Amino acid sequence: MKYSATSSVVARTPHHQRFTALASVLLIAGLLTSFAPDAQAQANPALLKDKAAFVNDLMKQMTLDEKIGQLRLVSIGPEMPAKKLADEIAAGRVGGTFNSVTRKDNRPLQDGAMRSRLKIPIFFAYDVIHGHRTTFPIGLGLASAWDLDAVATAMRTSANEAAADGLDMTFAPMVDISRDPRWGRTSEGFGEDPYLVSRIAEVSVRALQGEQKPIAADRVMASVKHFALYGAVEGGRDYNVVNMDPMRMYNDYLPPYRAAVDAGAGAVMVALNSINGTPATSNTWLLQDLLRKDWGFKGLTVSDHGAITELVNHGVAHDETEAAQLAIKAGTDMSMADQVYLGQLPGLLKSGKVAQQDLDNAVREILDAKYDMGLFHDPYLRIGRADGDPAEVNAESRLHRAAARQVAAQSMVLLENRNATLPLKKAGSIALVGPLADSHIDMLGSWSGAGVDKQTITLKQGLQDAVGDKAKLVYARGANITDDKHIVDYLNFMNWDAPEVVQDKRSPQAMIAEAVRAARKADVVVAAVGESRGMSHESSSRTQLTLPDSQVALLKALKATGKPLVLVLMNGRPLDLNWARENASAILETWYTGTEGGHAIADILFGDVNPSGKLPITFPRSVGQIPSYYNHARLGRPFTEGKPGNYTSQYYEEPNGPLYPFGYGLSYTGFSLSGVTLSQSTMKADGKVEASVTVKNTGQRDGATVVQLYIRDVAASVVRPVKELKDFRKVMLKAGEQQEVRFVIDAKALKFYNARLEHVAEPGEFQVQVGLDSKDVKAASFTLE
Ligand code: NOJ
Repeated sequence: MKYSATSSVVARTPHHQRFTALASVLLIAGLLTSFAPDAQAQANPALLKDKAAFVNDLMKQMTLDEKIGQLRLVSIGPEMPAKKLADEIAAGRVGGTFNSVTRKDNRPLQDGAMRSRLKIPIFFAYDVIHGHRTTFPIGLGLASAWDLDAVATAMRTSANEAAADGLDMTFAPMVDISRDPRWGRTSEGFGEDPYLVSRIAEVSVRALQGEQKPIAADRVMASVKHFALYGAVEGGRDYNVVNMDPMRMYNDYLPPYRAAVDAGAGAVMVALNSINGTPATSNTWLLQDLLRKDWGFKGLTVSDHGAITELVNHGVAHDETEAAQLAIKAGTDMSMADQVYLGQLPGLLKSGKVAQQDLDNAVREILDAKYDMGLFHDPYLRIGRADGDPAEVNAESRLHRAAARQVAAQSMVLLENRNATLPLKKAGSIALVGPLADSHIDMLGSWSGAGVDKQTITLKQGLQDAVGDKAKLVYARGANITDDKHIVDYLNFMNWDAPEVVQDKRSPQAMIAEAVRAARKADVVVAAVGESRGMSHESSSRTQLTLPDSQVALLKALKATGKPLVLVLMNGRPLDLNWARENASAILETWYTGTEGGHAIADILFGDVNPSGKLPITFPRSVGQIPSYYNHARLGRPFTEGKPGNYTSQYYEEPNGPLYPFGYGLSYTGFSLSGVTLSQSTMKADGKVEASVTVKNTGQRDGATVVQLYIRDVAASVVRPVKELKDFRKVMLKAGEQQEVRFVIDAKALKFYNARLEHVAEPGEFQVQVGLDSKDVKAASFTLE
């Protein structure tokens, strides 16, 4: 496979070059963290200020076995007892580990490294995806905030907490574009849009790593994943193939990874999937031509879990020997959770099938990364001294509850609110029902890392804390997540510490009857329904987007009571909400809100915080509509809403278009948007056009909304999307207040990769669309000369 892209206008200055320059200045000024002289690698400390010289010097001293040892990233678990691992490390057979998450656990392992001949430190990694001890909302929730400061808060806090536990690297951010909600890992990512996900990617990298290099003691190295295109697996089936034309790749799926690399991500995790016939793990085009040559990436690549061995399953390698050969030659530096490099590389080097240079390249990148993590300056930079260890790693004082509550409140999307059912009054009687109303574990969401379920605030607790004795809260579970034993068994079979989906042994009828009794006595019913967290996870692909039958039956019975019905959804993917949309009084999409979720949801339900989230992904009407992303290509026979369908692109059994469009979300106040005014009607190639709109809070409450800028290339050399998000602004307005919002549009916003993969802005007409969602927009046009 060979694709290569060119850019016709902008020359980029990679951020890592700036970082390196800054680091040199800091080093010379002696401002970097002090290092313990007796605990550093054997390489010449005098060279420490010059990364290349230092690493070269070290590599000259390394034996072949020591070099191969560096390529191994060990998963800590039952199969590798700590003592055995420390010995392996001391023998120079380990480069880094993951899954041990305390200073106390990590210290003896680093001690092992300090007993090794060259004292090369190991690094400690972990999946810190949306929080560490404190859990923030899942990726989809963070993206729903459309607020980069909120994302930065979540990521910075996560990095601080992870570093305080002796971790040096996180396997985040996860920036896979997902247009198929059947894919369980949709929950982890930031949605369907290349622009929004790219902005979040770069902010995440900066927040995780900080601006200092080597990375400061309170930050961790980011490994952007899963490179590449993992979100486009066929049929949303996890680990499946990706077949994609180059223009779609370059325009829609690659930008977030690129943004993370440009922001200085120290590492890249290679995806498990194949791309147009070549697994990412053995894909030379991907890992060398694109990542290193085109994008200038200088960091470390790590395989995903067992991915090198899986080259045999993909059918591109005959055995593990060939798998190791393919992977290292393609540019996969570290082998995660297997022994393939360790076992196979000695023979491959001997036979000449792998060159010394291939090995050296990988080793250099690993050592460079350790240098960038600050570990050669101080192997215990994040582990610290034993007398500084926290007495209790899960101590309440180590959590950042206020930040978690604030970010969570921003991450929810109000989908419906008939008759201003919300906000609720803190008075009267509220029936709280549903299998997710009091489920600690499900507040955490997928990939919750070191988050502790018991430390989460459930919705029940959150509501109770909010109303105190001002209102009566009656709780009834009402239904199990599902009554389908096969699904329960599957969810509990996954790699959890304990079964997570615990069935209430009562009959469905008895549970519903109890909930209905509670509803009849209440002024309003709040139903917490959706998916258990394992339903939206790795390896949790679904064929349906509906709520499980058990929960639908509960909702129908509650509806029949005639009481206002407020749905609080907890889920990790867009769901089929057709029934809910017709029947619920209000619907609040909360995703999985994390440690402070119950409080944050209560803040929204009672109006202490006005909802301001917007969907980062389209909600289709049915599985059959998938893929159903907003920025789809123009067509010769497009379906036009309101016109009788005839020989246009549509489905005939149900209304076309999404149930809820990308960018959509309500507030307790109203907003109006003026028409779009452009500063000029023509733009020069190096010029700018300013688009301005006035947004007004027309309601009675203060609130925030997101003004979204979309652009359509009216006629181009190739078929282009109907519209693409190019900028957005979250605006807070007091009741009655208005504000002008200006967007500056330059050639960068008009560029795309054409059929020759040139990054170009083509002269001609561009339509500017501004809206409070992607569907309902005001438009104006200008011409690029
Ligand atoms: C497999 C997952 O695909 C990846 O996202 C994760 O980082 C690794 N396992 C390590 O846990």
